[in-house]
Amino acid sequence: MRTQVAIVGAGPSGLLLSQILGKHGIESVIVESRSRDYVEARVRAGVLEHGAVDVLAEYGVGDRLHAEGLRHDGVYLQWPGQRRRIDFVQSCGHSVWVYGQTEITKDLIKARLADGQQLFWEVSETAILGADSDHPTVTFVDRDGSPAAIEADYVAGCDGFHGVSRPTIPESLRSVRQRLYPYAWLGVLAEVAPSTDELIYALHPDGFAMHSMRSEKVSRLYLQVAPDDDIANWSDDRIWDGLSTRLELDGWTLHSGPTLEKSITAMRSFVSSPMRWGRLLLAGDASHIVPPTGAKGLNLAIADVKRLGAALVRSIKDGSDDLLDRYSDDALERVWQSTYFSWWMTSMLHTPPADDPDRDFLLQMQMTQLRHVTSSVAASAALAENYTGSVLRYP
Ligand code: FAD
Ligand code: PHB
Repeated sequence: MRTQVAIVGAGPSGLLLSQILGKHGIESVIVESRSRDYVEARVRAGVLEHGAVDVLAEYGVGDRLHAEGLRHDGVYLQWPGQRRRIDFVQSCGHSVWVYGQTEITKDLIKARLADGQQLFWEVSETAILGADSDHPTVTFVDRDGSPAAIEADYVAGCDGFHGVSRPTIPESLRSVRQRLYPYAWLGVLAEVAPSTDELIYALHPDGFAMHSMRSEKVSRLYLQVAPDDDIANWSDDRIWDGLSTRLELDGWTLHSGPTLEKSITAMRSFVSSPMRWGRLLLAGDASHIVPPTGAKGLNLAIADVKRLGAALVRSIKDGSDDLLDRYSDDALERVWQSTYFSWWMTSMLHTPPADDPDRDFLLQMQMTQLRHVTSSVAASAALAENYTGSVLRYP
């Protein structure tokens, strides 16, 4: 096969890139190791920056988001006995939207297939050859076991943290900066109306807890757990007890309901740079990971792809590589800003492990930080600008 851009991975990054390229008349082929059902059902992110919503709408996948998504103009920060609201609109003039990654993925797949996108599901043995030559090729084994190859002008590595794209770049040419956190998130999707109108992020001596949502009928909640904890240790009753204790506030009730999905996710900050090697360009989790506390992972993926799409269109249509040459440096500015914000939110809200000798001191620092960020106009605005993504101009 021959195409203009071979895309590895049909997560939000790969699908949106093909959508952007398609709207500019550029052909792409996507290879994905999982099935369509699996990709559409993978429960992950839920909060979109206003700039990310604009990109999805600009490329024709904003209708259902605007009809079914929930606009949130603020967020609650909580510590024992206190729940304070940060008003995004008042602080920085922007909002965020709550709309599940599963729904974005479904919308993108539908739009791509309607446009005749070539998409290979359930491939194996994906490899990228000749990325530093003028003729990069993606090879794979298709669902029926037949070997296949795609020759392309460019290869987009959109295959997430565990993909093959990043390791294709020689280790000697890559810098990795990372931090592992001594805790993880247990996430639960529950069939119950949210007990709150906006998201609640809570610091509690037992550990962080959070209340988010997916719709007027489905709630998404999280608990801080040990990184080596096992989901088998967490019955539904234990999860709801933990959430009730950590989110407790006088006069407020947490409603529980049947759980639809539950899992534990490790937390890390990770940035591999550069995001380009020859004709291979990385986007999204293939290049960087943030802890979920700032709700930045999916938003960064969308910002990368918007920038990459523009750079590829310029190169392929106008023959100018100026944007491609700047892609990695320009994208990394936002990556580091979001990495900083996610680290800051994570550090403010997660209880240090019981054996941390500085634990009591750190808890006082965290509560002081929370009081400051919810009372100072300047500090609230800094949080609001970062959370809504307006801190940096959208690509
Ligand atoms: P991915 O979504 O990982 O997509 C990569 C795709 O490539 C996958 O479909 C994968 O199957 C495919 N692939 C991998 N290897 C190959 C291969 N060799 N060949 C072909 N295809 C391949 N972010 C938030 O903002 N908030 C959250 O609450 C949140 N929760 C998360 C929970 C979990 C468990 C995880 C893993 C991530 C979470 N994130 C969250 C992060 C967010 O979901 C990601 O940032 C986002 O999915 C990035 O999109 P992506 O397309 O770059 O990567
Ligand atoms: C979610 O709804 O899944 C969600 C929201 C905000 C976060 C992380 C996850 O910071």
